[in-house]
Amino acid sequence: MKNLLDGLSVPLNRRTFAKKSLMAASVATLAPSLLKGKDAQESTATTSSTLSAGDAALLRFAAAAEILESDFWVQYNELGGIPDSEVPGGSGSPAYIEKLENLDEDFPQYIHDNTDDEITHFTFLNAYLVAHGAAPANLDKFRTLEGSTATGVNTALIGKRLTNLTQLTLDTSWWTRYRSDKHNPDLDPNFKFPQAVPDLHNGQFTAIPRTDADLEPDAHIQAIANTAGFHMPTIEQGGNSLYPSMAQRASNVEVLRILISIGPTETMHFQTWSDKAGNAPPLTDPTNGLTFPDLNASPFGGETFQTNLIMPEPCPFLSRSLPPCSIIRPTKTEGVAMGVVKFLTAMGLFMGQPSAFFEVLTELAMAADAATRQC
Ligand SMILES: [Fe+2]
Ligand SMILES: [Fe+2]
Repeated sequence: MKNLLDGLSVPLNRRTFAKKSLMAASVATLAPSLLKGKDAQESTATTSSTLSAGDAALLRFAAAAEILESDFWVQYNELGGIPDSEVPGGSGSPAYIEKLENLDEDFPQYIHDNTDDEITHFTFLNAYLVAHGAAPANLDKFRTLEGSTATGVNTALIGKRLTNLTQLTLDTSWWTRYRSDKHNPDLDPNFKFPQAVPDLHNGQFTAIPRTDADLEPDAHIQAIANTAGFHMPTIEQGGNSLYPSMAQRASNVEVLRILISIGPTETMHFQTWSDKAGNAPPLTDPTNGLTFPDLNASPFGGETFQTNLIMPEPCPFLSRSLPPCSIIRPTKTEGVAMGVVKFLTAMGLFMGQPSAFFEVLTELAMAADAATRQC
């Protein structure tokens, strides 16, 4: 995250100082001291021990995923959030913000807070790894993508992004997966849950204005804001499954605690964004034909699409001989990390990255997927 904070002059409050210290200075030298205070004494058993290779691999993959999340959330925050001392950089795009606010007037605040959360996730995970003698995740050498050049971005970061928000192909089937009372992907791996916005799954679309030319016509910039509105829950439902899936293979109880404490915050993100996505105004983008349907009207609507059905519908869990249960799904643990890499790659989030980037991510994922629970 050094690049994120390079050249920025922001007032320091306590939280910012802690973050800047962790991100801009050497995590290796600072992290052990994080655990030396009163809090650390509550967990002396683990601060003095080293992590098993498997537990370290689980946390390191999570840290890498959080670095990637932070990178694109920062891009959202620059243009559509609230740049401040907690999440510095950018000055906002008023036309984009106005359209995001059609989904919810608190949208910029939620972007800011989600971004703040992700930065703390990877910073904590990396600091914990270092404090326990394990290598942190670091993807800095791949910060080379151009990103948006629209007014409002942090110009110091043009050409330094890890992720690409401008050519997204979104699998919006989580919408119907969480509304289904008959199918669970863990029990029905071949069942095809219908897409909420089929067009988003069949093309490449930007979720941020790429340049100021994207700020009009009105329906175009609204379609971009709607794409962001569906991208956010699409990402967060992934984290919502990743953490409980990985937790099943943690050996150390404190590593388990970390995974099951971060995971539910991803669920809170997902729940918030899935509610906002339902407010995306139905429309067709005149520049490319991208259509957002009215999810409450025929041929959509009903239990499968109705926008206010945002609580997870009870579904089969573990065995169809057991009663239905309202749960996160999927949570099958085998191959989950590689599954996440494939999911994010298919989304187009890494469009423009070289093969070396995918090799590094694959290595991290395979190590995490090889971890086994030692009792
Ligand atoms: Fe996160
Ligand atoms: Fe997240």
